[in-house]
Amino acid sequence: MITITTKLVALLGEPLGHSLSPAMHNRLYKEMGLDFYYLPIEVAADNLEVIFSAMKKMNFAGCNITIPHKVAIIDLLDELDPLAATIGAVNTIQFNNGKAKGFNTDGYGFLRSLEEEGGITPSEKKFLIFGSGGAARAIAMTLAQENAAQILLCNRTKEKASALAADINHKIRCCADVIEMDTATIAKYAAEAEVLINTTSIGMSPNNDLSPCPAACINADHIVADIVYNPHNTTLLRQAAKKGATIVHGLGMLVWQGAAAFTLFTEKEPDITLMRKEAASFL
Ligand code: ATR
Repeated sequence: MITITTKLVALLGEPLGHSLSPAMHNRLYKEMGLDFYYLPIEVAADNLEVIFSAMKKMNFAGCNITIPHKVAIIDLLDELDPLAATIGAVNTIQFNNGKAKGFNTDGYGFLRSLEEEGGITPSEKKFLIFGSGGAARAIAMTLAQENAAQILLCNRTKEKASALAADINHKIRCCADVIEMDTATIAKYAAEAEVLINTTSIGMSPNNDLSPCPAACINADHIVADIVYNPHNTTLLRQAAKKGATIVHGLGMLVWQGAAAFTLFTEKEPDITLMRKEAASFL
């Protein structure tokens, strides 16, 4: 039951119809007997400031931020975690005595899933990343911070990949570069990479048959990760599994970024198995 003492957590974004976060968090609050409630609030860009400042004065423990507010919210914060500042985007906010502190748990979520399903840490490894949007930014910056040997970016809009590579090289370390998106170039650099990552929406339902990477570029030594979690086994992951590569599902990143946010809101460790089960039940 929601009472006057219930701590609230919100998801702010637009549109929110697809989000699994409310179900994941509320299931854990219930199972762990926590007096918390997580609610999705669709917020248009024009209303972000007024809603966010009101939330700071209410009984909110924190909130998650999603598309399209992850960058705009930074101007409304009192404090910013250094990794979120480097990434330039925030997906989790903690409220404390009317002050808001921003974090980014997306890259951390990816790291944990890479460790869990891929069995590796990024140190000294070579990565080829498809895409250069918000998710790619969080993942690539986090990999660079974790000492990745090389990060190659391959994106439809080359200028976005170049801007992200320059940002990584400037802010963290000189380890990022851009490659063209044609099959011959992808084949050449995929052969040298240990990990291939899709951060684009290619392959997401209902476009299940698409993949950002030609199957011929994947081999059994690769670890292949997809951040798309619906479908669970994307075309990229199915083709990679067929080649004998190790695969990393998108569900892991979703669950681990949520787990890190859960701890920031409640100061408790979540039951990951339960979180994963709850999220998977919607797929
Ligand atoms: P997110 O926050 O989920 O990363 P985003 O910032 O909109 O979302 O980034 C989406 C990424 O997927 C971009 O790299 C985009 O490529 P562009 O920079 O060229 O827009 C990529 N993407 C989306 N749909 C694509 C498609 N059909 N083909 C190739 N790339 C696509």
